[in-house]
Amino acid sequence: MINIGVIGLGMMGLTHLDVYAGLATAKVVAIADADAGRRNGTVKARGNVEGQAQGRFDVASVKGYADGFDLIRDPNVQMVDICLPTPLHHRFALAALEAGKHVLVEKPLARTSADAFAIADAADRAFEKDGVLAMPAMCMRFWPGWTWLKQAVVEQRYGKVLAAQFTRLASHPGGAFYQSADASGAAALDLHIHDADFIRHCFGTPRAVRSVGYSKVTGGVDHLFTHYFYEDIPLVTAEGGWCMAAGFPFQMRYRINFERATAVFDASAASPLMLYQDGKLEPVALGKASGYQEEIEYFLGCIAAQRRPETVTLREGAEAVRIVEAEVESIRTGEACPLPHTR
Ligand SMILES: NC(=O)c1ccc[n+]([C@@H]2O[C@H](COP(=O)([O-])OP(=O)(O)OC[C@H]3O[C@@H](n4cnc5c(N)ncnc54)[C@H](O)[C@@H]3O)[C@@H](O)[C@H]2O)c1
Repeated sequence: MINIGVIGLGMMGLTHLDVYAGLATAKVVAIADADAGRRNGTVKARGNVEGQAQGRFDVASVKGYADGFDLIRDPNVQMVDICLPTPLHHRFALAALEAGKHVLVEKPLARTSADAFAIADAADRAFEKDGVLAMPAMCMRFWPGWTWLKQAVVEQRYGKVLAAQFTRLASHPGGAFYQSADASGAAALDLHIHDADFIRHCFGTPRAVRSVGYSKVTGGVDHLFTHYFYEDIPLVTAEGGWCMAAGFPFQMRYRINFERATAVFDASAASPLMLYQDGKLEPVALGKASGYQEEIEYFLGCIAAQRRPETVTLREGAEAVRIVEAEVESIRTGEACPLPHTR
């Protein structure tokens, strides 16, 4: 049994608490939020994904802190789950690692790639010193239908990938954090990073990106379309944005054209993953657990086994931020932006 402290009780904090409420391997012993209404459970949250943040965990039943650093200092807390606004991830993650606590950090790992790589470096030191484990909460790496895609690509199950298109579109979620490009990094960093990361997960770091996009809500990049350049895959693209008209339903989709099949994923469909092969169209059976649950269970399993996470690493979380920064730079210059290999 691992004792958990969750910092930040917005939409993601409440989503994680719902997951912990259903697990026998973890116990939430403390929560922290600067807002008293969040701490006592009177203020609720709402997410894009059906069934998310349902309030299954009673926040008033555990120790509540106004200051997240006090939660980190609580000797009863063994693992800190950071669901704070993005610019705070860096400071709180470093403090938790320094205190010798295991750390799960929501995506994007940090507001800048420099901060994100600094978290990865600090986690390496904390692992050497105290055996501390840390992971970015990149939920798509655990999402039903997306783990299927990664495996199909790795195994070349239907031949090579010829074309891959990812789409993630929403209306603007509202709220001060999401209104500010400085805080959230706009849709490019906050929303589209899921696809930038998954593209890298499947195909490696592109040699360059070429993006077009515009600002509508935050002053940052609120809607973009990117071409990822690879030597061996002709066409990899992604579109992400949160400036659709109010009422537009959340769209999370991919379409992958392999040499011998075409896979289509649509999160809103009754059978989200469909496969066209040999003139037939078949649904692909998917697991029922959410990506959030799979991600948290995976990290708890790593802690129980004292094994560093491999499905997603902090350095990969930082790489995803670096790719998005290159996309934003490409929009600024109107040119392709190269992505040199890093350390
Ligand atoms: N994995 C996903 O699919 C996904 C989805 C949405 C958001 N996120 C990420 O999760 C993070 C949080 O997003 P959210 O939508 O839950 O935000 P939110 O604004 O709903 O919640 C943030 C919470 O943090 C609290 N807070 C702010 N500053 C604080 C401080 N200094 N000390 C203590 N509490 C403080 C706020 O009161 C609020 O309750 C962001 O990094 C976001 O990008 C991830």
